[in-house]
Amino acid sequence: MSAFRPLARTVAFTGEACPRANGSPFATPLQLGRFALPNRVFAAPMAGVTDRPYRRLARQLGAGYCVSEMVTSRADLRDSLKTSRRANHDGEAAPIAVQIVGTDPEQIAEATRYNLERGADIIDINMGCPAKKVCNRWAGSALMQDEDLAARLVEAAVQAARPFDAPVTLKMRAGWCAQARNAPRIARLAEAAGAAMLVVHGRTREQGYGGEAEYATIAEVKRSVGIPVAANGDIDAPHKAAAVLRATGADAVMIGRAAMGRPWLFGQIAAYLEHGTLLPDPAPAQWRDWLFAHLDDHYALYGEAVGVRTARKHVGWYVANLADGQTFRQHFNTLQTAAGQLAALRGLLGEAEPSVPFILPLAAAA
Ligand SMILES: Cc1cc2nc3c(=O)[nH]c(=O)nc-3n(C[C@H](O)[C@H](O)[C@H](O)COP(=O)(O)O)c2cc1C
Repeated sequence: MSAFRPLARTVAFTGEACPRANGSPFATPLQLGRFALPNRVFAAPMAGVTDRPYRRLARQLGAGYCVSEMVTSRADLRDSLKTSRRANHDGEAAPIAVQIVGTDPEQIAEATRYNLERGADIIDINMGCPAKKVCNRWAGSALMQDEDLAARLVEAAVQAARPFDAPVTLKMRAGWCAQARNAPRIARLAEAAGAAMLVVHGRTREQGYGGEAEYATIAEVKRSVGIPVAANGDIDAPHKAAAVLRATGADAVMIGRAAMGRPWLFGQIAAYLEHGTLLPDPAPAQWRDWLFAHLDDHYALYGEAVGVRTARKHVGWYVANLADGQTFRQHFNTLQTAAGQLAALRGLLGEAEPSVPFILPLAAAA
């Protein structure tokens, strides 16, 4: 039998109860416009990480929803290889959410139409990216300094998305700096402009990724609006997800860094929130097959020359917790071909089962 099976069928439940599981609203799907998301555990957009191969695997291992890496709203950059790869959604399950970054309402409207015409189902607007090259152009989290412009961008996307019956969502930080935690105000403006959901990362732009995420501002956002709110920042385990949902009253959690090289975390959190059970981490012999499928898709998207280089970081994350992971990683990073990388991984982890189908979504397995 294939080793590619749903997480819920391959690992035993320990039966440890989740305090919110009984009668919990988190056991129900989340409605986002016309889409019923199968669960409330989302994969965060991460440029250079959450590409199509990663998102496909994340969905198959239990993420209820994924958002693409950010794509520019600028039409003149659309033909670049990087942007066209980011716009590739082959084989992805609906709803396909594309995140747009930009500063000009007309450009955002045009980019909204462009992406919806090419397969996107949902448009997410990025107001969270702290990167200088984005912020210096007054995009990403810099937009939180100009609430009026932020609202106009959401409104432009909502108007452009209306003929497609496509929801528009907004991902932002708690604020620009400690003295300006204005996410609740932007949340109200975004809701009034027609946003269908908000995601809030509990850090300010000033914090970058330093310090710890705080959840009080996310709770205030949730109290300020009637649309769904997803809490994001430093969620790395089922218990933490449940605690953040309790602390914020949010409708969903969004996970970024903790699931790098650990895409089964989505299914573990979903199982805890939905069924009140803690799934143990899969053994290397189990995630090995997921990694091979991930790499197959990765090489197919990027081609061998680029794919071999970009596969290194993913593999490094997968093997990080193995006893000989660091030594293996150093060797792996010297390998120049896909065949060489796969052979090294077979040496470390054993053979994968050949031509296995992808895993079913967790929801289908329940
Ligand atoms: C490498 C990397 C790339 C990211 N790229 C994006 C992006 O394209 N769009 C976005 O909205 N957020 C981006 N983020 C922020 C994440 O979506 C998320 O908000 C942040 O990592 C906090 O969540 P976490 O603690 O679960 O990682 C990125 C984060 C990282 C680490």
